[in-house]
Amino acid sequence: MPDQQPSQPEYLIAASILSADFARLGEDISAALDAGADTVHLDVMDNHYVPNLTVGPMVCEALRNYGISAPIDVHLMVKPVDRLIPDFAKAGADYITVHPEATEHLDRTLQLIRDHGCKPGLVFNPATPLSFLNHTLNKLDMILLMSVNPGFGGQSFIPATLEKLRQVRSLIDSSGNSIRLEVDGGVKADNIYDIANAGADTFVAGTAIFGTEDYHAAIAAMRKELARCTS
Ligand code: DX5
Ligand code: ZN
Repeated sequence: MPDQQPSQPEYLIAASILSADFARLGEDISAALDAGADTVHLDVMDNHYVPNLTVGPMVCEALRNYGISAPIDVHLMVKPVDRLIPDFAKAGADYITVHPEATEHLDRTLQLIRDHGCKPGLVFNPATPLSFLNHTLNKLDMILLMSVNPGFGGQSFIPATLEKLRQVRSLIDSSGNSIRLEVDGGVKADNIYDIANAGADTFVAGTAIFGTEDYHAAIAAMRKELARCTS
């Protein structure tokens, strides 16, 4: 008889640059990857769509030139958004995720990401309804649920995200499409088990990694919790 154990999804930990040391970004991101992070989450903020200001495509390209080869998921918190998509594609982005509130023509924006060779993702703020998935699901490679309001690292996970994750997991599974379900904000070793059990497979961690002295220990603690999940 084959082993009937339920298989564990491929869990990915994405290190968010927002809490890294911007004065030595390449080195700090490399340290997180060496310590076990799987991907890089690049938070792009414009002081317009969100009340904070970070980095643009030049920094993404600089990380590639520095030697970062892990997948980079670019989380665009900018409005308007279309203008920057080709630039981030050229700068080495793998995934590009956008907020529906940041574009007048969401379908066109998602297609623009695809046309530039990147994987499109749609981001939901805590109060953004999932109805935006009604006519977009077949165009997505990633759905990102914000578990804090976007703009700052170090905020607390909003518990209502768990129910929203369950709803999205069910939509993804019934679609039969291969879509990653990412969660962003307040993810730590002490809640990652519940978040994974609610259906997430990709976990953004900013302060949970960069806010510690020992990145390896921080990531190992999250992996240990994930290993307890069976579905
Ligand atoms: C917030 C950003 C997050 C942020 C998460 O707007 O989108 O990616 O870095 O930070 P932590 O993990 O510290 O909550
Ligand atoms: Zn983010």
